[in-house]
Amino acid sequence: MSSEVVLELDRLRTHFFTDAGEIPAVDDVSIKVHKGEVVGIVGESGCGKSVTSLSVMKLVPNPPGKIVGGRILFKDEDLVKATHRRMRKIRGNEIAMIFQEPMTSLNPLFSIGDQLMEAIRNHNKLSKKKAREKAIDMLKVVGIPRADEIVDEYPHQLSGGMRQRVMIAMAMSCDPEVLIADEPTTALDVTIQAQILDLMRKLNKEHGTAIMMITHDLGVVAEICDRVVVMYSGKVVEEGDVRTILKQPQHPYTKGLIRSLPKIHQKEERLYSIPGTVPKPGSVKLGCRFAPRCDSSFSRCYEEDPELLSLREGHQCRCFLYEEEGGENVG
Ligand SMILES: Nc1ncnc2c1ncn2[C@@H]1O[C@H](COP(=O)(O)OP(=O)(O)O)[C@@H](O)[C@H]1O
Ligand code: SF4
Ligand SMILES: [Mg+2]
Repeated sequence: MSSEVVLELDRLRTHFFTDAGEIPAVDDVSIKVHKGEVVGIVGESGCGKSVTSLSVMKLVPNPPGKIVGGRILFKDEDLVKATHRRMRKIRGNEIAMIFQEPMTSLNPLFSIGDQLMEAIRNHNKLSKKKAREKAIDMLKVVGIPRADEIVDEYPHQLSGGMRQRVMIAMAMSCDPEVLIADEPTTALDVTIQAQILDLMRKLNKEHGTAIMMITHDLGVVAEICDRVVVMYSGKVVEEGDVRTILKQPQHPYTKGLIRSLPKIHQKEERLYSIPGTVPKPGSVKLGCRFAPRCDSSFSRCYEEDPELLSLREGHQCRCFLYEEEGGENVG
């Protein structure tokens, strides 16, 4: 991993304006992605992971959503200020995105080859024949058997795993600097999931593509990520390298997520799960948003908002328990 930052979310705020009030779905979120790095964004459903990734692509539905503050720096350019035209150029070229359900991004009316060739020709001025050859090559790279036949098939003829491979081929055909993957393996069975993660790791290593991996699954994080950002109710609550987060988590929420992971030699009869659910962003008006579910909460947690503190180089945590230990405020 290099020290060069390719993508930086700087105090990003994306809110939804609904009849029920303003929802701060992404609330002052700062994340750096370095060249060639795989950064995991984790948290339970409703924590703001997808809205964070859609914000980067400027694909948050507006209305009701809007980026109301902060910057998204892509190699020094602030995407928050970028025009629609500029964003269309960036999407799929410099920053690509894949989603949980590839059917939402693949057009059922066009063959796999047509769609892949369009992506390739948007990026490179190639003849139809050359683009078709490249499309078949890309299908082979992502491990699709019978690539020269599949190229003429339609999305509904492929399995979920195969469709996700096509999406990855499509995303990679433009050699993007950053790939944002939002729960790319959630709908797939475990074996296929492992193959897709291997494939993404390979593309990351061989092409140096930085990946922002959005997942609720710490198993996926352990498999592929270098660094992890834990989100809770629209805010970053802990951040660190993957080893630290998995082996020495500090935030009570991260600890809870880790405790909920199935163990190989499970002694407990039932799998642990954190009691309660993620509060809708903005619904906890005062204090730590995790307090109602936190085993370690004390009176201050219900009265003030904890700041993100630096515990040591590269490890940050938003919790009062560490303030007394001299953590340094990072904003
Ligand atoms: N279209 C929308 N309208 C209103 N609120 C929304 C919309 N999309 C998302 N939200 C709010 O943003 C929060 C975070 O959503 P999301 O980023 O999709 O969560 P995650 O991907 O972590 O499961 C949701 O809990 C919801 O309150
Ligand atoms: S600040 Fe308090 S409620 Fe929040 S995570 Fe820390 S101990 Fe728990
Ligand atoms: Mg999501």
